[in-house]
Amino acid sequence: MMWTTLLLWLGALLSVSYAQLSETEGTGGEEEAVELFTTPRAKMAAATSDFGYNLFRALAGRDPKANVFLAPISISAVLTQLSMGASPDRSERWLYRALRYHTLQDPQLHDTLRDLLASLRAPGKGISIAARIYLARRLRLKPEYFGVVEKQYGVRPKALMGGAKDVNEINDWVKQQTGGKVDRFMSKPLGRNSGVVPLGAAYFKGKWITRFSQSGLMEDFQLDGEVPARIPMMQQDNYPVKMGVDPDLGCTIAQIQMQDDVSMFVFLPDDVTQNMTLVEESLTAEFVQDLSMTLHPVHVALTLPVLKFSYSTDLLPLLSDLGLAEFLADTDLTKITAQTVKLGSLNHKVVMEMAPEGTQYASSSQVHAPLSYRVDRPFLFLVRDEASGALLFIGRVVNPRKLRI
Ligand SMILES: *[C@@H]1O[C@H](CO)[C@@H](O)[C@H](O)[C@H]1NC(C)=O
Repeated sequence: MMWTTLLLWLGALLSVSYAQLSETEGTGGEEEAVELFTTPRAKMAAATSDFGYNLFRALAGRDPKANVFLAPISISAVLTQLSMGASPDRSERWLYRALRYHTLQDPQLHDTLRDLLASLRAPGKGISIAARIYLARRLRLKPEYFGVVEKQYGVRPKALMGGAKDVNEINDWVKQQTGGKVDRFMSKPLGRNSGVVPLGAAYFKGKWITRFSQSGLMEDFQLDGEVPARIPMMQQDNYPVKMGVDPDLGCTIAQIQMQDDVSMFVFLPDDVTQNMTLVEESLTAEFVQDLSMTLHPVHVALTLPVLKFSYSTDLLPLLSDLGLAEFLADTDLTKITAQTVKLGSLNHKVVMEMAPEGTQYASSSQVHAPLSYRVDRPFLFLVRDEASGALLFIGRVVNPRKLRI
C-alpha cells in the first residue's frame, strides 16, 4: 500500500528519537524543557496534566472499546476546591497526592492554580471550564468554607435544597458557565445520600491556525472488526504540521497548531485497532514535552474527521484507581462540616467541536512528493496549552458513529 511506503519513508525521516534528544542536552532545546518545569505555573501545569493522564488511563481502561473524553483541568479545579474543605492531615494530603501537588512544593499553590486557570480561560484558546462544589444543606455546613473558595477561585459552593429543583439549578449554572454549550449536564436526580457533589464540565472549540478548504465530504472511517463508518471529514493539502513516527508505540504523531498557543496532538496507530494501551501507558507531561521537541515540521495532505460530540460520565468510581480509596471510604471534610460525609458522584460532561475554520490559508505551492496524514481509523488525541504545557482535553475516538451531541 502507498501508506506503508510513505510510512517507511517517513519513519526514516521523522523517527522520534529520544536518544537524540538526550544527546542534545545543554543546547537550547534542553534549556526550554528545564524552563517549562521550573516556573511555578509550568510545574502546576505538569501536575494537573499528570493527574489528567492518570484519570484518562483509569477511564480508558474501564471500557477498552469505548470512545472516551476528558477535560481533566476541570476535575483538578473542582477537587482542589474540595481540598480546601479537607482536614489537612488526612483528606487534604490524599487529595494533593492524587492531584500530583505533593511534587510541587509550592506554598502559593492555590494562587498558582488560580492564575493558570485564568490564563487557560483566555477567550482565544476556545475552552470554557465549569467547576463547582454542591453540598447538601442538611449537613450543617460551615459558612466560612463558602467564602474561602469564592475568594480564591471566584466560584461559590452552593447548598442544595434536595429534590428535583437541584438538577435544574445545577444544569442552568453549567450551561451559563459554558456559554450555553454544555446543556443538560445531569440527566437524572441526585441520589438521596448525595452529601457532597463536586462537578466539572468543559466546552472546547479549537480554532486552527490554518483552515481546511474542504469539509463535510463523507468518507470511510475504518473500524476494528466492523464495516467502516461513513463520517464527514475535512481535508487540506500542504498543511503545516509537526510530525514524527514512533516505532515503539506503533503510531505516527502529528501536532497541529491552533490559535492562541494551543495545539492538538494526534496519535494515529499504524494499524486499525481499538487497542491503544501502549500510547495510553506512555502519556505523562514529560513524555509529551519531550515528544513535542522531537517532532519535525512538514507539510502534509491532512484529513481529519469533523467531530462534534458530547460525553458524560461519573468519574467517582475511578478515584480509587488514583490512590483515593481511603479518602472515599473515610472522607473527612472538617472545614465543610463536622458530620461524616460521602461524595455522591463526580459528574463530568464535555462538549467538543472540530470545525474546518482557521485564520490562514495553506500555501498553494506544489510539493514534489506530498506526504499524507489521514486520520481515518481509531486514534487518540490531546489538546495542550503550549504556553504553560497544561493538558486541556484528551480523547480516544474508537467509533465516531457512536458519538452523540
Ligand atoms: C493491547 O495491547 C497490549 C500491548 O500491545 C497488550 O499487552 C494487550 O494484551 C492488548 N489488549 C487487548 C485487549 O488486546
